[in-house]
Amino acid sequence: MERWLTGDDPTLVETAASVRAWVPFAADSPLYEAYAIRIAEDSDMLRVLAAIPGSPAINILLAAVQLLLTRDDALAAWYPRLAEDVRDPGDEAYEAFRAFVLDRREEVLALGTRRTQTNEVRRCAVLMPVIAREMAARGWDGPVHAIDVGASAGLGLLMDSVRYRYGDTVVGDGSLTLECDNRAGLALPSRVPAFATRTGLDLHPVDATDPEQAAWLEALVWPEHADRLARLRAAIALRRDADIAMVEGDAAATLPRVAAGLPEGPIVLWHSIALYQLPDDALEAIDDAVAAVAAERPLVRVAFEPQPGGWSDLRVGLRPRSAPPVVRGHQHGAWIDAA
Ligand SMILES: C[S@@+](CC[C@H](N)C(=O)[O-])C[C@H]1O[C@@H](n2cnc3c(N)ncnc32)[C@H](O)[C@@H]1O
Repeated sequence: MERWLTGDDPTLVETAASVRAWVPFAADSPLYEAYAIRIAEDSDMLRVLAAIPGSPAINILLAAVQLLLTRDDALAAWYPRLAEDVRDPGDEAYEAFRAFVLDRREEVLALGTRRTQTNEVRRCAVLMPVIAREMAARGWDGPVHAIDVGASAGLGLLMDSVRYRYGDTVVGDGSLTLECDNRAGLALPSRVPAFATRTGLDLHPVDATDPEQAAWLEALVWPEHADRLARLRAAIALRRDADIAMVEGDAAATLPRVAAGLPEGPIVLWHSIALYQLPDDALEAIDDAVAAVAAERPLVRVAFEPQPGGWSDLRVGLRPRSAPPVVRGHQHGAWIDAA
């Protein structure tokens, strides 16, 4: 097989372009960034990627490798090598990774049908001050109904149950603390918004109490991010006792039914790193569903979706694509900054 991409195979050229487009989003993982840059030039690896149906395929491939590593004791000899490579990603690390993927192609591809449903609870640290501000602006003092669109395992709906630390400022209380650098000097609320109900909408809700599904969520965490892994585990533990309803299906179809079933009171609806890959007609359908609910009862919508460059914008509006960004935030919630 030809190792280096020649440009003769249009499918591989397209796959390589999608990997290159993903590279900026891996800026927080030197290892994955180094792998992606090399994969984009490597025909054998691009052939594996092209056989992965989910999106982004590279994220699924990397998570599949992580999962296989944790599943198989026989790989213990390879694993420390990965840990070492994390400190100095380079050609040697890539060769080990490449050999692993090509040797275990069938096992990797068997996991390739899984989905990228990374659930990062620290995104709440970026969303929460904006949601609190919008609620205050509308005079919504009491508990609101929270709806998270594209909620994955519903960990974002723990927003009212965790503690936040922005430098010296602490907001809220809870056994899990989310640290976020408030680079924008954004006004912070004195208390966390209170939720009367919590509903997660997802095409395929993840049951984080199922060990196999929790292991996949863990595998989606990038290898350098030990803090994220610890947070994920803590959030999954909190999720077990939290009163969160998960509703399966396309949010455009489920939202009207869910909203109609909620008791009176305002709705705060948000989505984080969830809808950016949807085609325009699917986004329009969700916008229309949100607008229809908002015509019947008070509703605010906050969108936290990726932008080219690796960060994500927060926009407030029933049709957020036509609203200007109010702030921008780190894709995993590490900082919040001026738009
Ligand atoms: C990357 S996950 C993000 C999870 C979570 N919002 C977070 O920030 O950690 C994106 C989720 O959006 C869901 N999703 C995508 N399109 C959707 C739609 N039309 N309706 C409901 N859920 C959708 C996917 O199934 C996936 O679980």
